[in-house]
Amino acid sequence: MSVLIAPSILSADFAALGQAVRATERGGADAIHIDVMDGHFVPNLTVGPPVVQAIKRVAKVPLDVHLMIEEPDNYLSAFAQAGADALSVHVEVLSKLQPTINAIKELGVRAGIALNPSTPVTAIEVVAREVDLVLVMSVNPGFGGQAFIPQSLNKVRATRALLDQVGNPAPITVDGGVNLGNAAALVEAGASVLVAGSAIFGQDDPTEATRALRNASQASSARESA
Ligand code: DX5
Ligand code: ZN
Repeated sequence: MSVLIAPSILSADFAALGQAVRATERGGADAIHIDVMDGHFVPNLTVGPPVVQAIKRVAKVPLDVHLMIEEPDNYLSAFAQAGADALSVHVEVLSKLQPTINAIKELGVRAGIALNPSTPVTAIEVVAREVDLVLVMSVNPGFGGQAFIPQSLNKVRATRALLDQVGNPAPITVDGGVNLGNAAALVEAGASVLVAGSAIFGQDDPTEATRALRNASQASSARESA
């Protein structure tokens, strides 16, 4: 099973985002993960469409935008125009999932649904057939550099089981506390995309850290195919 590495720029130097993106691309990054926070859904503020647009000008790989905001519907088209290739919205803020997933797809963007650690996988059942990706949070959203919640491994397995049950091959993205020590186990559990902020930008050499994370995550693939 191949795994994609998506560095989260949340832990990068915001004065040098272009360099940060290029450094991880040299290390084989498959996507750039951009965390949008509104100070309401999470107790932190980050970036909006202008920063996505600026990163789009320098990035060669797709931009996965993670919306940790209370009113995602109001901003979908702005982020699509800014160059998002995938938009993930949190299930916790939506009373109806289907219209938002449809709206994202109509913008020509991959539609993702994100789950907080305390949200059961059953919360996404109604859109399990339609989603293009599921983002499983493995820390409580809001800040980089938090410790991985071990129960997330079971959450990934349950999410994969739900998607398989409805015949949806959509990838599962795992976000929060991903590092060299848990990458292989996450892939074994069914993760297809590993988001990493501090494990990449908290290191001296983000290029090498990107490569190292891929190597660590592939340790399981080698065992699986052996
Ligand atoms: C947390 C964000 C994550 C964050 C991950 O709310 O959604 O994307 O950047 O950072 P690390 O890898 O440091 O846990
Ligand atoms: Zn994120």
